[in-house]
Amino acid sequence: MVKVAHISDTHITYGNAFNRTAFDIAIEKINKSDVDLVIHTGDVTDQGLRDEYEYAAFLFNKIEKPLIVVPGNHDVRNVGYELFDRFFGQFFKKVEVGGISFIPIDTTVPDVGDGELDFYEMERLKEKLFEEKETIKVVIGHHHLFPLPFTGRERNVISNSGDLIELFNSSGVAAYLSGHKHVFNVYKLSDTVVINAGAVSCRKTRKGDVNSFNFINFDNFTNGVDVTVIAEYIDGSRERKIFSIPEKSKAISDKGAKLLTIVQISNTCVSDRFYFRQDVMEKGIETINKINPDFVIHCGNIVDAGVERYFERAVALLSNLKSSLMVVPGRNDFSFNGDIFFFRYFSLKPFETEKIKFVPVVTVNKDAKTGRLGRSGLKFLKKELETEKEKIVYLHHNLLPVPHNRETGILEDAGDIIKLLIDKGVKLVLTGYGDNSFFTKLENVSFVNSGSFSWELHNNPAGFSFNLIEIYENDVCVKEIYF
Ligand SMILES: [Fe+2]
Ligand SMILES: [Fe+2]
Repeated sequence: MVKVAHISDTHITYGNAFNRTAFDIAIEKINKSDVDLVIHTGDVTDQGLRDEYEYAAFLFNKIEKPLIVVPGNHDVRNVGYELFDRFFGQFFKKVEVGGISFIPIDTTVPDVGDGELDFYEMERLKEKLFEEKETIKVVIGHHHLFPLPFTGRERNVISNSGDLIELFNSSGVAAYLSGHKHVFNVYKLSDTVVINAGAVSCRKTRKGDVNSFNFINFDNFTNGVDVTVIAEYIDGSRERKIFSIPEKSKAISDKGAKLLTIVQISNTCVSDRFYFRQDVMEKGIETINKINPDFVIHCGNIVDAGVERYFERAVALLSNLKSSLMVVPGRNDFSFNGDIFFFRYFSLKPFETEKIKFVPVVTVNKDAKTGRLGRSGLKFLKKELETEKEKIVYLHHNLLPVPHNRETGILEDAGDIIKLLIDKGVKLVLTGYGDNSFFTKLENVSFVNSGSFSWELHNNPAGFSFNLIEIYENDVCVKEIYF
C-alpha cells in the first residue's frame, strides 16, 4: 500500500489569509501518520511575495516526509514563479513510490486565476505518461479539471481541460490531485479518480467549512488499484470514499433490455451564411432516417442567428426527419429576437415514455457569453428529476470540458448542476456546446456532447457528425456517426 497526505492552499502570509493554528494541527497529524509522501497542490503562499516564501520554507521544514509541491495561481503573482523555483523547485519533480509514479504539472498562468496547460507543458506531461509502462500513474496540478459543487461562479477550470481528460483516458491515469477551489470533492471520471483537497490553512473556505486535507491510500495493485480518500478536517471529523480503478464489475457488466435508440445532434446553424452547409444537413437527415431512431434530440444552435426566416428554414429542413424531434435553445438561437422566435417555432416540454423521462433545460441567457441555470432553475430541475423513471437531461452548454476546445462557454453553475444530476441518479446528460463529439462517465452518469451537424466552423477533427445513443436498462452505448 502507498499512503499519501494531500494538502493544498496553505496561503502562507503574515496577513489575515493564513490560519497558522490549522496549519500546525494538520502537519502534526501528518507527521504522526505513516504516509510515504506529502503532496501540496499549490497556493503555498498568498501573494507570491518574498517574505511569504521565506515563511513557507521555514514552516515546510517541519514536514518530516518526502514532499511534492506544485505552484498555484497565488504563487505566481508578482513574478512569484521565480521565487517558487528558488524555494520549492526541488520539490517539483516526479517521484516513484511503491509502484506509483506521481507526476507534477504546472497549470498556472502569471497574474490570472485561470488554469492552462501550455503546449510545452502538455508535451512534457505526455512524454512522462507514455514512458511509464509498468507503474500506476497519478498526476498532480493546482487547478481543477471540471466544475465542482459549492464553489460559486465557475471560473478558472484548466482552459484545455478537455484535452487533459482525453489524455488521462488514453494513458490510464489512475488519479488526478488538485486544489484551488478550497473545497473537498472526489468523483470518478471514467477510470480516473479526481480528488480535490479543501484549503488546509487558508481562512477562505466555502459554506462555513473548517480547514481540511486528505489522506489517500493506493492499495491492491493486482487488477488496477483501489483508491481510498479520507478528508480529514481540522476539527477531527472525517469523510471517506473508496474507488476501484478500473471498475471490477466491468467484465461482468450486463446491459439489460434495450429501452430506446436516440440520435443527438447540435449546431445545425441554419442560415444563408457561407459556413452553413445545407447539403450536409440534408445528407445527415437522410442518414438519420435510415437509422430510424425513436427520438432525435437537438442540443441547440438550430439557427446561426435569431432571424425569423432562419427559423422558418430550419423548421422546413428538420421536418424531413421521420423521428420525433426534441430541442433546446443554444446561444445563437437566443440572439437578436431569437428568444421570441424560438418559442414561436419550437416548444420545450418535459416528455415521458413508460420508463424514461426527458427533461429539457434552458441554460442560455440572451446575449450572455456564458450559460447559467440559476438557483430557480436548479430548483425547477430538482423537481423535474423527482421521479422513479430513468432520466435523460438535455441542455446546450457542456457541463464537462470537451477535447480540442478551449473552455469559453462555461456554464457558471455547472458544478452544482453536475452534483444534482449525480445525486438524482440521472442516466444520461446530453449537451451541444463546443462543436466536438465527446462521451465520458462521471460517477454513474453518462455525459455526451455532440459535434457540429452542418456548421463548417467546428472543432471536430473527424468532421460533421451526430451521436447514435442506445439506452439499455443498465448501460448507455454511444457511437459517433460521420456522414
Ligand atoms: Fe487557493
Ligand atoms: Fe488557486
